[in-house]
Amino acid sequence: MIVLGIESSCDETAAALVRDGREILASVVASQDEVHYRYGGVVPELASRRHMEAITPVVAEALDRAALPLSAVEGVAATQGPGLIGSLLVGFSFAKALAFARGIPCAGVNHLDAHVHALYLTPDPPGFPFVCLLVSGGHTGLYHVTSPRDLALMGQTRDDAAGEAFDKVAKMMGLGYPGGAVIERLAAEGDPERVRFTRAYLAAESFDFSFSGIKTAVGRHLAAHRNDPGCRMADVAAGFQEAVVEVLVRKLLRAAAVRKVAHVGLAGGVAANRRLRELLAAAAGREGFSVHLPPAALCGDNAAMVAAAGHHLLAVGRHIGWDADVFSRHR
Ligand code: KG4
Ligand code: ZN
Repeated sequence: MIVLGIESSCDETAAALVRDGREILASVVASQDEVHYRYGGVVPELASRRHMEAITPVVAEALDRAALPLSAVEGVAATQGPGLIGSLLVGFSFAKALAFARGIPCAGVNHLDAHVHALYLTPDPPGFPFVCLLVSGGHTGLYHVTSPRDLALMGQTRDDAAGEAFDKVAKMMGLGYPGGAVIERLAAEGDPERVRFTRAYLAAESFDFSFSGIKTAVGRHLAAHRNDPGCRMADVAAGFQEAVVEVLVRKLLRAAAVRKVAHVGLAGGVAANRRLRELLAAAAGREGFSVHLPPAALCGDNAAMVAAAGHHLLAVGRHIGWDADVFSRHR
């Protein structure tokens, strides 16, 4: 089955065509970074307006790149939530209208589930069961995954998401938005041992995360040392990144050991971080887990993951009614 996926939960307008939940025929992502950059974060009203402008050309571009007519699309899948309501409404309403007009089924996809589906679009998907660490700008959670439709939350952030911490630290350092990739580039030139931040492991048995403490610690360090002759921003970025990444890797591998799984995976925008990938690969190798990492293009928001998740819903007849609505918070 060829599914058209649509993603518009935040600041990317994306469309993709995926065959059988496995093979990407085309994937188009229109980023709005240049719209929100100057505000240091996503401005919801501007995001929805840009989605309105972009949605039709982005879907047309996906069909074009796949060299397929609209009549080849057998099902539609769109992100239903969580996300910004105005943004979600654009993609979701477009998807419903298209499916209704063509007389084909439409699936409503949970954005977090969709991120995990990026793993099934790789040449080497994890076998079930596996533990997945989802690290994005809005969410940080550990999932025990037993099938494409069954994910059990083992733990999540109690405050900021990991990506949000990268974004906020980048803002404090005057590096702009979004901050993850910029911090990563700067950290590559720094020494992670020069400025050492406390690792927030919480209780020993906890699979929850907390990143607001380190964000405050970076703020305090900057306030005290920013103008010191020996203070290098690259060292602060490297120290911050190392502290976040170490906690993520340790918790993921402990969750995998507790659940006695052989496979671990990463998903979400922060999964593009090379230091995280490198540290996980090394530690998991030592501890005997096989590691599954989506390519960077499938880590951040995209519609191929939405189409893949939609495929698994449509395959068991889980389509939405035409009165279905979007939702803003995780449920
Ligand atoms: O999954 P995503 O595209 O959107 C959400 O669903 O939130 O994740 C975006 C987040 C942003 O916070 C961004 O700063 C972070 O992912 N990010 C990174 C990197 N690339 C993107 N964080 C760390 N290192 C990166 N290379
Ligand atoms: Zn996302």
